[in-house]
Amino acid sequence: MKGSSPRYYKALREAAKAANSQLPLKKLLRSIARSATKAMGAAGCSIVFPDPGGKHLVYASCYGLSDWYSRSGLLDENQELQQVMRGDTVSILNAPQDLYFHNSVLVAREGVASILGVPLMQRGKVVGALNIYTRERREFSRREKEFLTAIGNLIATATENTRLYELMASLASTKPVTAAEMPSLIPDVTRPSTFAHPSEEEFARLLDFYRIEWLYEPRCFPLQWEEDRMEEMFTPDFYLPALDLYVELTTLKQDHLAEKNRKVRRLKELHPEVNIKLLNKKDYLRLLAKYGYGPLGKASVPGIDRILFSETQIQRKVRQMGRQISRDYAGKQPLLIGILKGMFYFMSDLTRHITVPLSVDFMAISYYANDGSSAVRITKDLEEDITGKDVLMVEDIVDTGMTLNYVLDYLSAHNPASLHVCTLLDKRVRRLIDLPLTYIGFEVPDEFVVGYGLDYQGKYRNLPFIGVLHPKLGKQK
Ligand code: IMP
Ligand code: MG
Repeated sequence: MKGSSPRYYKALREAAKAANSQLPLKKLLRSIARSATKAMGAAGCSIVFPDPGGKHLVYASCYGLSDWYSRSGLLDENQELQQVMRGDTVSILNAPQDLYFHNSVLVAREGVASILGVPLMQRGKVVGALNIYTRERREFSRREKEFLTAIGNLIATATENTRLYELMASLASTKPVTAAEMPSLIPDVTRPSTFAHPSEEEFARLLDFYRIEWLYEPRCFPLQWEEDRMEEMFTPDFYLPALDLYVELTTLKQDHLAEKNRKVRRLKELHPEVNIKLLNKKDYLRLLAKYGYGPLGKASVPGIDRILFSETQIQRKVRQMGRQISRDYAGKQPLLIGILKGMFYFMSDLTRHITVPLSVDFMAISYYANDGSSAVRITKDLEEDITGKDVLMVEDIVDTGMTLNYVLDYLSAHNPASLHVCTLLDKRVRRLIDLPLTYIGFEVPDEFVVGYGLDYQGKYRNLPFIGVLHPKLGKQK
């Protein structure tokens, strides 16, 4: 491993520079993870910290690993990781076959063979873990372990410094600081700080515009090995999880194109399961059109103007809301009440992400102009008595707030122990009656939306996404 020294020095220099910089924590961690991965000729790297509650371990940063991997959830059951969190260095030669390694299925899918994990030490205390992943089986050498340990110590110190710095900047006053006020170590989304090329940034904006989820350079594919050294690798620019598709953008220079074509061909030989497209600018507009987006495409469902929230976005949001509700209602047994019919997909998905025991009940009310009556009335009443219960109203969308206002009046007259509202969509711009909404999924513009339970004249409920109805069809209720 003699040849690796200059690479190690370079990586340590880069890591120390990043640690000493004023980069936000998210970028700092990613930059160090990238340096370490490259220096070790590895496939990827992850940094693990306890979550803000201190109860679980989660990925704070992943480099070179897929989206599935970084979102694989809480890591408590991973015995090796527990060992690292106790201060040991752990290497796993054959991770997919390792019985105790709870992510074994995931690493197999990811094409990871070996893993090296070191603790992040800060003043003798373990504050997190740093893992390196290789695609080939590797017995990690003493040098490699020492190198990774040094990187780990840099990360621990940099993390602590950055958190303190961010904390001081945010709390200029002298008020006492609670643990909850410490800046979180867990970045919300993995967005790059800079793109290698302006066309990539433009492509990312285009994807954002059409609500297609993306990850930038999420994975390195080794293309050629010489002994245990990686001679050539390929990192596609984007990965689009919803389409399970890698995208490599090309500038229009002919020599680059030939080189990239060769790399993509090689990648397809080595990983036939990987779905990758090489795109020039014209191509990517056509690609979007193929999936029903973009200037060349039309949404594939007649009557739908555009997609507002994709299925993936909705599912992720509902999961987050479920987790939050579970935390807030710990030790309680909430009663979830839905007003028929629009919330039935949301309620059904949401309850599956709530971990405290709960019950559900439904009511229905008449809508203006919907029946001949002159005032709103309850057409289906609750079956449970809500007195003394922790009631959570679940709504699909709050528009003017008039429906909710009526229902909340009715419910609070029965003296529940607590009464909160959880709505997937908030059309705030149209609000007439302002009501406190405890949980809000997405804010929506002043347009008529359908799908995921929401209807227009009884139709469109079964779309898996939420879209804007074509203006000619949509009219505000
Ligand atoms: P509000 O009383 O004005 O807040 O209206 C709430 C109800 O109107 C919701 O529960 C929906 O049934 C319906 N609604 C409001 N906006 C939309 C929309 O954009 N799409 C579908 N239904 C909507
Ligand atoms: Mg409704």
